[in-house]
Amino acid sequence: MEVCRTKSAIRAQLADWRPAPIVLVPTMGFLHEGHLSLMRLARRQAGTTGKVVTSIFVNPTQFGPGEDFGSYPRDEARDFDLMRKEGVDAVFAPEVSEVYDPAAQTIVETTELAKVLIGKLRPGHFRGVATIVTKLFNIIRPDAAVFGEKDYQQLAVIRTMVRDLDMGIEIIGGPIQREPDGLAMSSRNVRLSPADRAAAPILARALDEAEALAPKGITASRLRSHVRATLEAETRAHVQSVDIRDAHSLETIAGPLTRPAVILLAVKFGQVFLIDNRVVQPPQEEP
Ligand code: PAJ
Repeated sequence: MEVCRTKSAIRAQLADWRPAPIVLVPTMGFLHEGHLSLMRLARRQAGTTGKVVTSIFVNPTQFGPGEDFGSYPRDEARDFDLMRKEGVDAVFAPEVSEVYDPAAQTIVETTELAKVLIGKLRPGHFRGVATIVTKLFNIIRPDAAVFGEKDYQQLAVIRTMVRDLDMGIEIIGGPIQREPDGLAMSSRNVRLSPADRAAAPILARALDEAEALAPKGITASRLRSHVRATLEAETRAHVQSVDIRDAHSLETIAGPLTRPAVILLAVKFGQVFLIDNRVVQPPQEEP
């Protein structure tokens, strides 16, 4: 596996490999099974002739003031070992100063999608994500890129950006990987206290309940109240938002479910911000 620290090094490496197809998996490192599942998906997508490229970069511009940029967990040596085992061909792992020019004045923003849901809780977050992903796309120029469905809104932001700006990169979504007790894997889970870690699977349980209720015919607002009540029964869970939206457009839903919907949760345990989601189905139409 080639380790590239500079834009010129990764560009030179990729120039050697082209025209082989290149599949990119962007990450902020501290890898877990969720990230590794995306690398396997990328490996399959790239096939025997293609190359899998990953990035490890804790992107400062997507963290707000007072968020956990400084304390975000890092373990590069372990990450490199895990990537080698997955057959990753090259990793781009630059310093912040290599990526951002202090005089930079250009941003990428999905105007409406960036303002709602997590964008409302974390103002500026999706501007940072869209800008860094654009930069990674321009540095690496992949044919396809893989992102997790765990970050449902992030995936929607990236698909929208690629469509709107004619980036011509295939975006592939990978399913959420979970711990045996249902907790969605996240680099932030290690920062949960033991008591919070024990309580955190309530997110997955609330989503299981919603998944079972949705096909029985229930309005979006009743489903939302049910999920919120389940979460709030766990006193350690500080509910930040519970939303039910159209699974494709992310538009709000009023009244009964008629199309697939996504339930989006954001819950804090102490200082740790956790998210999870599930796509649920409406009642089947009478034949
Ligand atoms: P990071 O949080 O490191 O996640 C990297 C990728 O792994 C994202 O596409 C994310 O959705 C996916 N992922 C995380 N947990 C997952 C899980 N349990 N199951 C499946 N996939 C999972 O997301 C980012 O980094 C950054 O915002 C980034 C896109 C790299 C831009 O800085």
